[in-house]
Amino acid sequence: MYDLRDYLDRLREYDQLTELHGAHWDLEIGGVSDLVRRDGLETAVLFDDVVGYETGLRVLTNGFDTPLQASLALGYDPTTSLREAVSAHKEQGTLTKALEPRTVDAGPVTDTVIAGDDVNLLDFPVPKWHADDGGRYIGTADVVVTRNAETGALNAGTYRVQIHGPDEATVYISPGKDGRRNRDSYLDEDEPFPVVVSVGHAPDLFAAANERLPEDVDELEYAGGRRGEALEVVEGQMTGLPIPSAAELVLEGHVYPETEPVEEGPFGEWTGYYGSGTQSVRPMTVERIYHRPDPIIFGYNVSIAPSALSVIRSAARLWDELDQAGIPGIEAVNAFMPGPYFQVVAVDQQYAGHSTQVGMQAISLPAGAYHGRFTVVVDADVDVFDWQEVLWAITSRCDPEEDIQIVADTWSTPLDPRIPPERKQSGDLTNSRAIIDATRPYHWRESFPEDSRITDELAAALREKFGDALSGGDGGVQ
Ligand SMILES: Cc1cc2nc3c(=O)[nH]c(=O)nc-3n(C[C@H](O)[C@H](O)[C@H](O)COP(=O)(O)O)c2cc1C
Repeated sequence: MYDLRDYLDRLREYDQLTELHGAHWDLEIGGVSDLVRRDGLETAVLFDDVVGYETGLRVLTNGFDTPLQASLALGYDPTTSLREAVSAHKEQGTLTKALEPRTVDAGPVTDTVIAGDDVNLLDFPVPKWHADDGGRYIGTADVVVTRNAETGALNAGTYRVQIHGPDEATVYISPGKDGRRNRDSYLDEDEPFPVVVSVGHAPDLFAAANERLPEDVDELEYAGGRRGEALEVVEGQMTGLPIPSAAELVLEGHVYPETEPVEEGPFGEWTGYYGSGTQSVRPMTVERIYHRPDPIIFGYNVSIAPSALSVIRSAARLWDELDQAGIPGIEAVNAFMPGPYFQVVAVDQQYAGHSTQVGMQAISLPAGAYHGRFTVVVDADVDVFDWQEVLWAITSRCDPEEDIQIVADTWSTPLDPRIPPERKQSGDLTNSRAIIDATRPYHWRESFPEDSRITDELAAALREKFGDALSGGDGGVQ
């Protein structure tokens, strides 16, 4: 049975884990996790001895920052290469055979069960991640399990969870998500909405919960299928919902229709802004807390520097969807920012209009349609994993007047910091997209000037011959 502690062992084995003592829950955990990403320190951080809390109550952050961490988390061959990690996720990350979870009577998570008046969410070192967050968020890399009242179908998703009192927490689910439909299926009928929130678990469960999967797919079954081993779950005492038996810390309860809504947010979102502000959300009453000894809260802080996981998933999904759509010649896809904010597709052009087709598809397929901004199409000779090459292609092969197409009225979200307040208020949650065609124009590509880069063969030979001598100097050959 794979769990978060196995993952910590793997991170240690690959020298990807730092244990930090004495940080404060108030902005220090969030701040450190942001700095680690921005400064490219390439380490997950396990915070212990958080100020005001007992030793052993821990918080893990930066668990998916690098291709190595992401490949370890997702069970792929360990690699430091973003290209290899994207390819692995493209080949292995899609839907495999679903395996129904196996229910057991007890597991590590039932070691301690806290009920009724003893429930106090602030007994755990829950961070306030960003200065203007509306409170402390216990759920950032969580797995929220819900059921649809009408169909009985189970769902797991990642939704932020803010603490409002010892046994009160809000789960913020955006419109359109399966979790939101599940919530409405109970509350619209004036029925209590049962919820389980795991805030510490194996990393592949987190990744499965927020993977874009069809509505009828149960993410816990998908996670078992990808592992090739059914996930072990225990039944929640209050809701009957499945709880991963090896989870670290789990909250269980109901959102009661009669509970007054509270103000949720703001929260420092993945865009790098407090984009969606505050909203009125009916909180969940936490009726049980289950935890292992010395539980670990799994946190996912966002920074303006994207995590490898977000890049890998965005790129692999789009690449796979372009292939599935039958677009020929797709050689590679990368994403320089989370989600579809800045995607780059390399295409081996085969006919006039091919690069435009790729760009239009990229902004329309599910992996590129929501909250995108810039899509760049380059020729296959450009390395999409190298910023310098992509910028070189844009500046040398794209004529802004001819080669940038703007598409208006596209799908965005309340999180989008660039939608003016009055448009957001009117419900107009659209933005626009730029498709930057940085390929050699197809009809005169043969007469486009030859590029003067050294060949890969010459580069390899020179590295071999002079690498040691030059690596001592500034900007040495590596
Ligand atoms: C770190 C992280 C945090 C997220 N936070 C939220 C959130 O607060 N609310 C939300 O609706 N979606 C959030 N998402 C996106 C959903 O988890 C994702 O869209 C998921 O596929 C939704 O599942 P569903 O459609 O089955 O409900 C988050 C994703 C990640 C990776």
